[in-house]
Amino acid sequence: MAPAEKWLSTLFAAAVVSFLLLVLSVTSSPSFSTSRRAVPEALAVSMDSRRSAPIPAFAYYISGGRGDRDRVLRLLLAVYHPRNLYLLHLSKDAPDSERAGLATAVRSALPAARAFGNVHVVGNPAAATYMGSSVLAATLHGASALLRLSRGWDWFITLSAADYPLITQDDLLHVFSSAPRYLNFIDHTSDIGWKEYHRVQPIVVDPGIYLARRSQIFYAQERRKTPKSFKFFTGSPWVILSRPFVEFCIFGWDNLPRRLLLYFSNVVIPQEGYFHSVVCNAPDFQNTTVNSDMRFMEWDSPPQMESHHLNSSDFGKIAASGAPFARQFLEGEPVLDEIDARILGRRRGWPVPGGWCSGDGRWWSDRCSSWGDIGKVVPGPRAEKLGVKMKELLAGWRSQASSCR
Ligand SMILES: *[C@@H]1O[C@H](CO)[C@@H](O)[C@H](O)[C@H]1NC(C)=O
Ligand SMILES: *[C@@H]1O[C@H](CO)[C@@H](O)[C@H](O)[C@H]1NC(C)=O
Repeated sequence: MAPAEKWLSTLFAAAVVSFLLLVLSVTSSPSFSTSRRAVPEALAVSMDSRRSAPIPAFAYYISGGRGDRDRVLRLLLAVYHPRNLYLLHLSKDAPDSERAGLATAVRSALPAARAFGNVHVVGNPAAATYMGSSVLAATLHGASALLRLSRGWDWFITLSAADYPLITQDDLLHVFSSAPRYLNFIDHTSDIGWKEYHRVQPIVVDPGIYLARRSQIFYAQERRKTPKSFKFFTGSPWVILSRPFVEFCIFGWDNLPRRLLLYFSNVVIPQEGYFHSVVCNAPDFQNTTVNSDMRFMEWDSPPQMESHHLNSSDFGKIAASGAPFARQFLEGEPVLDEIDARILGRRRGWPVPGGWCSGDGRWWSDRCSSWGDIGKVVPGPRAEKLGVKMKELLAGWRSQASSCR
């Protein structure tokens, strides 16, 4: 690094830390003191008053790559609520200036995030390619940072820059208040079919784990047998996990999550199997799985590796789906404006208004630049739709017909 650049990056680091939207450097700060200090009183208080409240709170892990700064910011505005906790991760391919820019942009777009201190940017990012173990490592890092940042959340939700919500946080908090807090919403199956040969048996190595520069995974010449000491489950990498299950995976007092992590580090797409296999092989958790990822996606036929990009032609289906999130969208896709206008009631550059916002609501001012009781949740008409879906899912879970099969 040239001296000038070095100086610049120090400046950004200093600026970001003092902006409170801290740069988490979990692996390099031995005592994790930066982030502990950065959970301000306001959040601690709001989280404590939450303990007795029937309304839950979510911990969002939002990941993106180089050039995703604006998408991540827009997504954050669309899912922001002061009760929740947010961790934003721009993978290693994005320059530090983009990370610093994201922190600054959050600070200026969201006065509430400044006051509640509930939005954080990962300062020590991981490499990210869709294939290989780096992505799973980054997700687990995010989960452990969120556990450490606050005791007050109930569910861990993974989103990417290509996702968008189809429901307001007031609606989501309202609907989830009727669900037992120990449930894991995770799409999964043990019917691995063609994946056995193409995804389970190959042995891969992800150089993102040990090389400084990003490079593709490589395949070993040998294959390995399908596991026998545990049952291999696969499914959607997009999950909503309960806090007890995240603690089980991260704290590792039982060796299952660790053993499976070692195994999955050589699986082609580990984020499509790790949590699924852990939850279904752990006797304490296998009855807590609801078989749904709660995302709206459209697949091409034959299906590609990723679902297809949604556009305005899909709006009808998106609006009718009743799912809380949809993916995937290209940046600046016009259908996002439609979702903002017709579903979320969000105006450009501002968060989605909710019961917590107390501004006067004149057209030129952001209603959420001032706030009242953050426990006040005002569900809208779409909460009903998701409520119906939740009832179906809970009935399915009680019958245990589709859990861990
Ligand atoms: C989970 O459900 C199965 C089948 O309903 C039952 O046999 C088992 O005892 C349950 N496990 C726990 C830990 O509750
Ligand atoms: C949306 O995408 C589909 C293909 O995925 C395409 O056929 C259609 O024309 C697109 N619609 C718009 C409005 O761009």
